[in-house]
Amino acid sequence: MKLTVIGCGYLGATHAACMAELGHEVLGMDSNMDKIAILNTGKAPFHERNLDEMLTRHTASGRLQFTASYAEAAAFADLHFIGVGTPQQPGEDAYDLSHLFAAVRQLAPRLKAPAVVAVKSTVPVGTAPRVRDLLHEFAPAGDRIEVAWNPEFLRESLAVEDTLHPDRLVLGFATEHSWAEAVLRQCFEKIIEAGTPTIVTDWATAELAKASANAFLATKISFINAIAEICEASGADVTQLADILGHDERIGRQGMRPGLGFGGGCLPKDIRGFMARAGELGVDQAASILREVDAINSRRRQRMVDLARQQLDGNLAGRRITVWGAAFKPDTDDIRDSPALAVAQQLHELGATVTVTDPQALDNARKAHPELGYTDDPIGAVQDADLLLHLTEWTQFSHIDPHHLAARTMTPRVIDGRGTLNADTWREAGWTLRTLGRF
Ligand code: UGA
Repeated sequence: MKLTVIGCGYLGATHAACMAELGHEVLGMDSNMDKIAILNTGKAPFHERNLDEMLTRHTASGRLQFTASYAEAAAFADLHFIGVGTPQQPGEDAYDLSHLFAAVRQLAPRLKAPAVVAVKSTVPVGTAPRVRDLLHEFAPAGDRIEVAWNPEFLRESLAVEDTLHPDRLVLGFATEHSWAEAVLRQCFEKIIEAGTPTIVTDWATAELAKASANAFLATKISFINAIAEICEASGADVTQLADILGHDERIGRQGMRPGLGFGGGCLPKDIRGFMARAGELGVDQAASILREVDAINSRRRQRMVDLARQQLDGNLAGRRITVWGAAFKPDTDDIRDSPALAVAQQLHELGATVTVTDPQALDNARKAHPELGYTDDPIGAVQDADLLLHLTEWTQFSHIDPHHLAARTMTPRVIDGRGTLNADTWREAGWTLRTLGRF
């Protein structure tokens, strides 16, 4: 099939490459010319495992191309996926849908023949009819444009794997027998034939599938982090506790890693957008649990700052702190709402001299936080440090030998914010180690 993907960020660029991998002819479209230029050389403008290799292969074969032109995109295919960003509005909980509506308004006047517009962006429930209205009003093909809702559940760092082998496929349509269903079933044929649970539903359910999945994932993380607060106060070990809880199949261990909490471009803004939309619908009480989820998550960052201060005898001013981690999670260079950088910045504001290191995210971190110090050497970075903080759990960090590291510093003191450093080995090596969530 021929198809386009409008919006080539983490979601769109990955979707475009994976659709080419499935055998389709794909045109990716993004209004950012720099991004398009990089993508057309077969590289991703961000770090995502296995994506470069797929982009290189399919741009070389000609099956995948990128453009900045809506006219080209509209003329290329009759199936258009939209995966533009829907960030949080500055100073508000609600989503900023301006990129989505701008993309629809740009595409619509160029749609002269019947087409399917399948939206993947995360939105507040009730957005699909607004997209339909715009398309029907501005497209020459009018009501022969069909809107489908196809939420995306991929995780950054596993985006390619999650797109090609999703847990489930959700397809939302305006009516029960929409002709768009056959188009999308053909597009996802290989994924459906592989036995992927495929749920065909209405627009609102499809929209809410994504919002509520992220709300649940955030709740699970904050639940274990709330328990971590009780563990710290009572002498229990939250990691072991999570293992014990996880053996109950109804609870499950996945997505319940205690620590510094969640960040990134999705979970934080999605729980806030969910609360804002519930408020508009007059059911704000139903989402009020998420206010607490957000508050627990913020407290983890504050707790880390407090622990650092405590370890430095109550005085942060002029103290040298090395932070391992800038990305919001390992295996990505994405620093959006990164818990590690939020802690680093707060320590800096309190007078500490902070040096950050990260295997992939240093360029992005430098641009966003020029006030912090940076190095690409996690071992050398401890030399003059009064304290080491482990805030993003890259395997590169947990593989560093604490004996070797202890020999490099006068003050072997570390706080593990992610619970992935082997506490016994580090202590044997002479480190004073404190783990978030353990006594
Ligand atoms: C999240 C969801 O997991 C995806 O299903 C969803 O498609 C995506 O948002 C999205 O809306 O696009 P992502 O933000 O890539 O994916 O990352 P996660 O792996 O969910 O991690 C989010 C944050 O939670 C990270 O900061 C991570 O360190 C933290 N986390 C995750 C924990 O603190 N504990 C855990 O057990 C899991």
